[in-house]
Amino acid sequence: MKVKNIKSFIEFYKNLGTTTSITNTVRGNSSDLLYQGFAINELEKVPTIKKYNENQSKQKKLEILKSSAKDINCDLKDIATNLVFSDGNINSEIMLIGEAPGAEEDRKGKPFVGEAGKLLDKMLSFIDLNREKNFYITNILFWRPPGNRTPNSKEISLCLDSTIEHIKIIEPKLLILVGGIATKALLKSQEGITKLRGISHYYCYDESKIHTRAIFHPTYLLRNPIEKRRMWDDLLEIDNLILKNNIRR
Ligand code: URA
Repeated sequence: MKVKNIKSFIEFYKNLGTTTSITNTVRGNSSDLLYQGFAINELEKVPTIKKYNENQSKQKKLEILKSSAKDINCDLKDIATNLVFSDGNINSEIMLIGEAPGAEEDRKGKPFVGEAGKLLDKMLSFIDLNREKNFYITNILFWRPPGNRTPNSKEISLCLDSTIEHIKIIEPKLLILVGGIATKALLKSQEGITKLRGISHYYCYDESKIHTRAIFHPTYLLRNPIEKRRMWDDLLEIDNLILKNNIRR
């Protein structure tokens, strides 16, 4: 981490009233959990993902996936203003996946552009992650649930195949799951975010095994600023993981 960023961390802790030094949480090497990526709910689903040719460009594959998403039989799309697909650099080795668009995202058609998104961008910038340059971001749902309610399992299940395909197209080396809903859906876990953050996970498909971390959702941090301390611990650990594994930023 750069000196200017270490200074920002210290400044942040000072603002919280912390006087002791920051120590990075030690995470057990043996606690790596291996998960298979599959949908959480075996509902009858009409397959909507259009086939693409392996030789097509990443951009083209993403366009096909986005156009397939429009055909998902999810009621949320009837009330949403826009389908919110993704943002960031498609060639990044780091992919973030959140929950669902909010009001601002619905208006603009881009993920994480409201207050929570701004906080997330700011925190990620401290470990030199920037969506124009080195990360790609999406949600497990393409449409805003009314009043920002928590998406239900049917809505999640209907969109999840597209998210899994999305990961396969981007081929990230590091997956950061933002908040409990995205984490539980993709890691197929019943545990809450408090248990799932701060430990190593892998997201597996075909022959691929992707380093995966779960972090608190920025909306939760806006409501519970004290939890930013644990978020910083997680970001420092992610920073180390990126360095150790030569992940591009
Ligand atoms: N919260 C999310 O999970 N995703 C967004 O795009 C915005 C807020």
